[in-house]
Amino acid sequence: MSIQLNGINCFYGAHQALFDINLTCPEGETLVLLGPSGAGKSSLLRVLNLLEMPRSGTMSIAGRNIDFTKTPSDPTIRELRQNVGMVFQQYNLWPHLTVMQNLTEAPCRVLGLSKEQARARADKLLERLRLTSFSDRFPLHLSGGQQQRVAIARALMMEPAVLLFDEPTAALDPEITAQIVSIIRELSQTHITQVIVTHEKEVARKTASRVVYMENGCVVEQGDASLFTRPQTDAFAHYLSH
Ligand SMILES: Nc1ncnc2c1ncn2[C@@H]1O[C@H](COP(=O)(O)OP(=O)(O)O)[C@@H](O)[C@H]1O
Ligand SMILES: [Mg+2]
Repeated sequence: MSIQLNGINCFYGAHQALFDINLTCPEGETLVLLGPSGAGKSSLLRVLNLLEMPRSGTMSIAGRNIDFTKTPSDPTIRELRQNVGMVFQQYNLWPHLTVMQNLTEAPCRVLGLSKEQARARADKLLERLRLTSFSDRFPLHLSGGQQQRVAIARALMMEPAVLLFDEPTAALDPEITAQIVSIIRELSQTHITQVIVTHEKEVARKTASRVVYMENGCVVEQGDASLFTRPQTDAFAHYLSH
């Protein structure tokens, strides 16, 4: 199992955002998290790389086990984040660094790769994501779709076991959304496990091998992609029909 959550409860101050979350995702699957705005999708995604710390519950992810009744140590957090990458809706590229520098900075600093090693790895990813000609540009001189592809390439530089996406196509037009969908589908042919939050049902249907449907901080339904055609709850059926 690549990801297993048991009894996760997560709070913002007194406000509880996640209630007793139990979730499993085998290695190599592409899991899509669906649900109305405010359901807790982003909170759950952020738990997976410890950007949020639940108050209780346990998590196994990418071979690490965490019991949230104890505070994870800084080395545990760092090590987990190297193996669990995140692609944000707003791309979050470093504006003062070129595309190549955005890609090589963390692998050199965090993984201790030499400049040459990092550049070689970056060249391969830039080619795979059809970004080679943009390598010396700054993010501001790229379109939204190009920036999102750079953000994916940057996350892949760390060779993570799990890659998280929060609304990766929310700001993109249909043609560029289709490119991101095809990148996600290509990645699903590798060993990487992907978790994608989206409110676009077409993106979900085209990428998911597993689906989790949430409402009000709870998992309502989860299973394989056949749930899209045979939802087990009225709530998910209703969501899909709108
Ligand atoms: N940083 C935060 N501080 C306080 N409340 C938050 C914060 N982030 C999210 N919430 C609340 O937690 C709940 C779940 O939010 P979120 O995980 O962003 O939902 P979704 O991504 O499904 O729209 C919402 O009620 C939201 O208002
Ligand atoms: Mg969200």
